[in-house]
Amino acid sequence: MYTPDGHTRTCGLIGNPVAHTLSPMIQNHMARVMGQNLVYLPFPVARGDLEAAVRGALALDFLGLNVTVPYKSDVIAHLAEIDPLAERIGAVNTLVRCQGGYKGYNTDMPGLYRAMEQDGVEIAGRDVVILGAGGVARAVAVMLLDRRAAGVHILNRTVDKARAVAQEVNKIAGKSFARAYALKDYGQIPGQDWLVVQATSVGMHPHEEDAPIEDPAFYRHVEIGYDLIFNPGVTRFMRLTESGGGRACNGARMLVYQGIIAFELWTGTSVDQNTADELCRMMAQALGQ
Ligand code: ATR
Repeated sequence: MYTPDGHTRTCGLIGNPVAHTLSPMIQNHMARVMGQNLVYLPFPVARGDLEAAVRGALALDFLGLNVTVPYKSDVIAHLAEIDPLAERIGAVNTLVRCQGGYKGYNTDMPGLYRAMEQDGVEIAGRDVVILGAGGVARAVAVMLLDRRAAGVHILNRTVDKARAVAQEVNKIAGKSFARAYALKDYGQIPGQDWLVVQATSVGMHPHEEDAPIEDPAFYRHVEIGYDLIFNPGVTRFMRLTESGGGRACNGARMLVYQGIIAFELWTGTSVDQNTADELCRMMAQALGQ
């Protein structure tokens, strides 16, 4: 049995709320399998206490932190260094101890990329449809740019937000890479056999009967419907994708891989495929899937 001792390193999750997080299960399991003397705990941080929390973690010599809602952007002001991809995305979910403070990374998007690789989804040279224009959708667009997609078509209920995100991403790209549409205007998207990343909050538990687009005509074009939601395990968007003849994936693998990449950054180790697969099974079980 593992027992923490005088050499144990501490990592944790800061956010609000953190009570329902699966990260302690994922991280502590990984630490045991990988033989690392490390513990991972959730820390609820009240609004206004973010800076104190980061300073406190530093004073207590925490090895690293994960950061979740609502602090993924705000935490950037309290970092010693930031990874260039995280800076472009504008959101940090992982802090790693460095000289004089913490270096911020985004492992959500590399996690999505690794999950997509595992699911056999090719990105390079491909046009990708993104549903949503919030922080997550924007991050997905930047990741797709980084991974050399041909372009992205951003569809959102509020078309002005889609336009703003497309403009920001095009500025980062230094070329025309992203185009904006209203959700109902999907008929204007060129090409067939779309890869669609569902990056809205629509269909998330407990609103499991909702999907951002209902029209079967849309789903006839969807070759792969990649929902970033992991609870429920099968969303209405995924069922509609399958009804239209497409293949559907959920966000569970992304969640596992963002945790794996954070763990790898903290420990300098490389997590093997068996452990990754086991973590996916554990997570599905924890979610009753
Ligand atoms: P996040 O940071 O998780 O991306 P967010 O910034 O609140 O969260 O973005 C939520 C996304 O879900 C937005 O694209 C939002 O559309 P609007 O910009 O029009 O608000 C989308 N969304 C939420 N509820 C929706 C609904 N009922 N129908 C369609 N889109 C919805």
